[in-house]
Amino acid sequence: MMDAKPTVLVAEKLGDAGLELLKTFSNVDCSYNLSPEELCTKISLCDALIVRSGTKVTREVFERSSGRLKVVGRAGVGIDNVDLSAATEHGCLVVNAPTANTIAAAEHGIALLTSMARSIAQADASVKSGLWQVAEKQICRSVASGENTCCDRVGKVGSEVARRAKGLGMNVIAHDPYAPADRAHAIGVELVRFEEAISSADFISLHMPLTPATSKMFNDETFSKMKKGVRIVNVARGGVIDEKALVRALDSGIVAQAALDVFTEEPPPTDSKLVQHENVIATPHLGASTTEAQDGVAIEIAEAVVGALKGELAATA
Ligand code: MLT
Repeated sequence: MMDAKPTVLVAEKLGDAGLELLKTFSNVDCSYNLSPEELCTKISLCDALIVRSGTKVTREVFERSSGRLKVVGRAGVGIDNVDLSAATEHGCLVVNAPTANTIAAAEHGIALLTSMARSIAQADASVKSGLWQVAEKQICRSVASGENTCCDRVGKVGSEVARRAKGLGMNVIAHDPYAPADRAHAIGVELVRFEEAISSADFISLHMPLTPATSKMFNDETFSKMKKGVRIVNVARGGVIDEKALVRALDSGIVAQAALDVFTEEPPPTDSKLVQHENVIATPHLGASTTEAQDGVAIEIAEAVVGALKGELAATA
């Protein structure tokens, strides 16, 4: 007898609760670390594909699915690693997990902000190398001493970062062309124009999706308008920053420090001038990596994929 269950290919690690939920409705093939060619070869046998940020779901994936692929589930928020035009052309839904990792990402943003301000990574490396000293440049102003934090976008993650930064005693302003002023006021944040935001902030925390409009929006021109000594946190997407321009801004001192969880190319090249810069701290896209977030994301995406396979969803994410 033919197996009527759909097949779901899980191409990156997904929490057990999500896998269990998928198994109640489908055959689940967990195949991690597939090469692009291996993914294309497998895809014609699958009705759904679940990925995190490490897999590029290219036009070729949709073409090679020969029309069988009905839904791509992105276990996380950003869907910039999925070719949405190709998905639409091939009649494939794209769903994401928009809420479960919000707090994890915000916590990581704040962890990067405070550890950057206090040069924790550099101090740790120095102690481990046998040095016991506080370098002059490690003496900084308290983040609560009137420092301005600007959250660029106060959507889900940005507004949680804003709340936490206020809890640290920081003055928080925000730029967000889409946020209604009353929502910003509700979290005690003043909305300002982009130019004002970048020119008055001591810290800038980035929270926009990567789209054609936001690609490299932080470039030589924008850095030149920033307050000298600004510190930048990015837990959004590497591609919103022109990374070569950021290295120039770090070298010139316009940007005093940057704390980055995301890069244009992931992993970044080992000889990346940006990653190796003494005033940069870098983490490997782990903003969503808390157990709570991963359990939540696994369930959220499994529910969305099963719903889509059952025909409950009518539109792409
Ligand atoms: C997201 O888009 O949800 C975060 O960047 C975390 C991830 O990529 O998994």
